[in-house]
Amino acid sequence: MSTYQPERARKVTTHQLQAMKMRGEKIAMLTAYDYSMAKILDAAGIDVLLVGDSASNVIAGHETTLPITLDQMIYHASSVVRGVERALIVVDIPFGSYQGNSREALTSAIRIMKESGAHAVKMEGGEEIRQSVERVLSAGVPVMGHLGLMPQSIYKFGTYNVRAKQEAEAEQLIKDAQVLEECGCFAIVLEKIPASLAKKVTESVKIPIIGIGAGQHVDGQVLVTHDMLGITKDFAPRFLRRYAELHEIMNIGVKAYIQDIKNCDFPSERESY
Ligand code: KIV
Repeated sequence: MSTYQPERARKVTTHQLQAMKMRGEKIAMLTAYDYSMAKILDAAGIDVLLVGDSASNVIAGHETTLPITLDQMIYHASSVVRGVERALIVVDIPFGSYQGNSREALTSAIRIMKESGAHAVKMEGGEEIRQSVERVLSAGVPVMGHLGLMPQSIYKFGTYNVRAKQEAEAEQLIKDAQVLEECGCFAIVLEKIPASLAKKVTESVKIPIIGIGAGQHVDGQVLVTHDMLGITKDFAPRFLRRYAELHEIMNIGVKAYIQDIKNCDFPSERESY
């Protein structure tokens, strides 16, 4: 197995993602919400950073993604932008800032692009948000779609279980992916759907498909960084692979720090002025 060496000099663009799909190179995407983490992920060579509204869960501690506001997303996005040299930065338009109102969608997207300096936005939904997607695209803002399990619709779904297991929902999902491609979206995230369906979608559209819990027959993968690095501890869905146990490492470090203070071991003479 060869070690992947990212091209440091070139910034990742939506066109490059398309070219990656064409040549069969998988796209690696992770979430980021702050400057320090974004800097680490970018230096490691990640292709796409998603300023996800999952910040509502992993940063703010909310149960769902619904409470996060447009202002808060812009704050996270602008922090990420300052830490990145190479990756494409995509920002979720949060719940209540685009659904059912294409003018508001455009205003929200423009605020994100102008105030954060990010490169693209992501919106959850298919046919039902077509007008909003088209209006945002008409302003020259690249849009990534998001189908399957859409966390902003959790109260409609009622559960975080796998979506589109039934034929009717699977057929609608394929249609929605085609609608998003027709509109001009540059990529689509497919969340928590059967691998066989994700494969069908990937083969039925020309734009890159990024999976999370959608199996391996897609053009790339995304995970929530806090989950894959083991900062969050109790979230363990089947699709998640943990690449580190940072929770344990941080716990050991913090306990050692507390001990050193209690034992008057910190700071030492060398650490004093
Ligand atoms: O908000 C988020 O982190 C996401 C990913 C799970 C795709 O939308």
